[in-house]
Amino acid sequence: MSTELGELYQEVILEHSKAPRNFRRPASANHEADGYNPLCGDRCSVYIDMEGDAIKEIGFQGSGCAISRASASMMTQMVKGKTKAEAAELFEQFHNLVTGKDEAAAQEELGKMAVFAGVSKFPARVKCATLAWHTLQKAIEDDKKPGPASTE
Ligand code: FES
Repeated sequence: MSTELGELYQEVILEHSKAPRNFRRPASANHEADGYNPLCGDRCSVYIDMEGDAIKEIGFQGSGCAISRASASMMTQMVKGKTKAEAAELFEQFHNLVTGKDEAAAQEELGKMAVFAGVSKFPARVKCATLAWHTLQKAIEDDKKPGPASTE
């Protein structure tokens, strides 16, 4: 990555970290989970309004570094409207990107989130970048509040 590109990427991450999108608990949320980064103690909560298999609404809250906040912010934008399977696929691509595996394919899939490619050079930050994604996965699987019970 050229220095110029590196700066641009950093700008996007800083911008999302300062003004994270969907930084809230949607009133309609029916799935949620708390995530924890054992390396630093930072936490992240993800809230989803699942309609059938689809992520209709999503938000997050928590404390964390710029990378974790920006990653969570961009993740919420990216997975809103996606199905469980599509979100899982995006997580796999994102994981590949930040661990430097199959980077080119991942960049193509992830669009704006390709800004996190630089993280692969800093293994300790991988957990920062993936904290929200792991929490999303947990929230999708959360069945404590499955919504209206079936009457059948
Ligand atoms: Fe805690 Fe990044 S340093 S999430």
